[in-house]
Amino acid sequence: GTTLKAAAERSGRYFGAAMGSDRLTDSGFLTIASREFDMMTAVNEMKPDATEPNAGQFDFRRGDAIYNWANERGMRFRGHTLAWHGQQPRFWGSLSGSALRAAMISHINGVMAHYKGKFAYWDVVNEAYAENGSRRSSNLQATGNDWIEVAFRTARAADPSVKLCYNDYNIENWTYAKTQGVYNLIKDFKARGVPVDCVGLQTHFTGGSSLPGNFQQTLSSFAALGVDVALTEADVTNASTSQYQGLTQACMNVPRCVGITTWGIRDSDSWRGSENPLLFDRNSNPKAAYTAVLNALNAA
Ligand code: G3I
Repeated sequence: GTTLKAAAERSGRYFGAAMGSDRLTDSGFLTIASREFDMMTAVNEMKPDATEPNAGQFDFRRGDAIYNWANERGMRFRGHTLAWHGQQPRFWGSLSGSALRAAMISHINGVMAHYKGKFAYWDVVNEAYAENGSRRSSNLQATGNDWIEVAFRTARAADPSVKLCYNDYNIENWTYAKTQGVYNLIKDFKARGVPVDCVGLQTHFTGGSSLPGNFQQTLSSFAALGVDVALTEADVTNASTSQYQGLTQACMNVPRCVGITTWGIRDSDSWRGSENPLLFDRNSNPKAAYTAVLNALNAA
């Protein structure tokens, strides 16, 4: 394949990107997006604060604009995200206990009803674990330890056609406590029949941290539990070619690694743009890391 998507599709995988609605008027971005990518994610527009700014008042305008653009170009879609400690509606801040739990459930139902049958994946719960492998404390966690399970059960009932994902960062190193915490969550869900179909590893490699040699072991260990795995927000400090090559290769080596998404397309799109972590430069030219990824996809 001569594009990321064509190369990924050779092995039945996808290659995705994230975009904000502000990119819908950026012709440089849109040209690369439609040429190279076959999966799209909204950076902020489908988060709880964006889709339900006031209780029971849903606003899908910006999310729909991104979804429609991608869908019209034959791309599939990853929804991000339904239940998270971050970017919550302001009204959640004055709720707690059973009232907050009810608001979470009604939020999941409202958003998933709108996009029912349209998405390939939903990040149902995002970033619920702390670095030490225990639950991250948050207002949602304070509603009871079963909040994650309730979110997934609600999501399955709301749209049985979409794959339901748990998504987190710093779960790439197999021996890291947080990785083990999330692994045990998924293992428990599978044992008890709680609906979960995939684990998203955000794959933000920051501040000189290197690709863990056991990254592939992490992917295959999750996959062995009976879930898909995906690299959902990939970016790498200075777009190290060896790290991009390694993370792509690890995915290619694991049959249930279904695809890779980068968190933006050009360095100028990135939440950490000063680190130049993406596959395209500010002039929309592919970088050395692009070639490394393309070759690794084509070798599979
Ligand atoms: O839209 C407002 C704008 O009106 C205002 O003038 C401006 C001033 O600060 O803020 C704008 O909102 C910002 C928003 O991005 C849109 O640009 C928020 O402040 C800013 O906090 C928000 O950052 C987003 C971040 O999530 C928030 O948690 C990033 O764009 C987004 O890339 C990032 O994405 C997360 C994933 O969801 C989860 N994993 C980590 C990843 C990177 O942090």
